[in-house]
Amino acid sequence: MTLAIEPLHPLYAARLTGVDIRQPVDEAMMSAVRAALARYVVCVIGHDKPPTNEQHIAFSARLGPLERGKSPKIKGTETRVPYPEIVDQSNLNDVGEIYADDDRRLAYKRANRLWHTDMSFYEVRATYSLLVGHVTPPSGADTEFTDMRAVWDALPATRQAELERLVVEHSYWYSRVQGGGPEPTEEERASRPPARHPLVHVHAPSGRKALYLASHASDIVGWPREKARALIAELMDFAVQPRFVYAHKWRRGDVLIWDNLATMHRATAFDDRHFVRDMRRTTCRERSMESGDSRIV
Ligand code: OGA
Ligand code: MN
Repeated sequence: MTLAIEPLHPLYAARLTGVDIRQPVDEAMMSAVRAALARYVVCVIGHDKPPTNEQHIAFSARLGPLERGKSPKIKGTETRVPYPEIVDQSNLNDVGEIYADDDRRLAYKRANRLWHTDMSFYEVRATYSLLVGHVTPPSGADTEFTDMRAVWDALPATRQAELERLVVEHSYWYSRVQGGGPEPTEEERASRPPARHPLVHVHAPSGRKALYLASHASDIVGWPREKARALIAELMDFAVQPRFVYAHKWRRGDVLIWDNLATMHRATAFDDRHFVRDMRRTTCRERSMESGDSRIV
């Protein structure tokens, strides 16, 4: 089979056909998928039935070292999706029921509705995220993207020059609270300290410069907080203009892959008190990490 690529937006994003991640994928096909990702940075692969957790993990591991959270808990208190490589992005609790409205985990999950890139609050950044649609609600819940290379290209040269050497601090707790979640405890805060990354970097797979920003971006190193937040807000507004945005309408069985080093994304609203949305994510990182040293809530 050869890989067919159908662009979904004038700037980036494509649907890939001719590959099924539930089957063994040969190296020639993997190279074609990697090349498509380098250029389009958001790629969707549809399936008539979602891949199993094992198939999801096996395919993801071909794209880079996988993030592994804590090992599954003991029986009786186990997580719904007991694989350390999989982040449960559903609105379901441990026993598969829709979260109670006052559940702390739901409040933190809603922060996904802020524009972000995954795991920028870690020193070792996320490269690809692979999100699988297991159950999708009847309406809403698109995932929206923006291409941070196109955003960089669209900035005036004078602005670009001002941004080149800035370093941004990214904090998980900053975005959780911005997203309406509760203030973390001191212990929670200490469990996930902030990380620093250049605001502008070269996206290695495409060789293009990109802005690296997210809802987690809380400060600019060496700048007064107010001035830093004003610049971050200005750049975030610029980056999410409709001309840059691709909105993915989910179908069950879709595998959506995005490059966190070249995009931002966000979840959008749906009736999460009445409809199930079961989404599961794996995440590749720039280099492999010790197991259990980080965990996405
Ligand atoms: C994620 C995420 C958005 C969505 O899985 O990292 O932000 O629409 N998901 O579920
Ligand atoms: Mn995300």
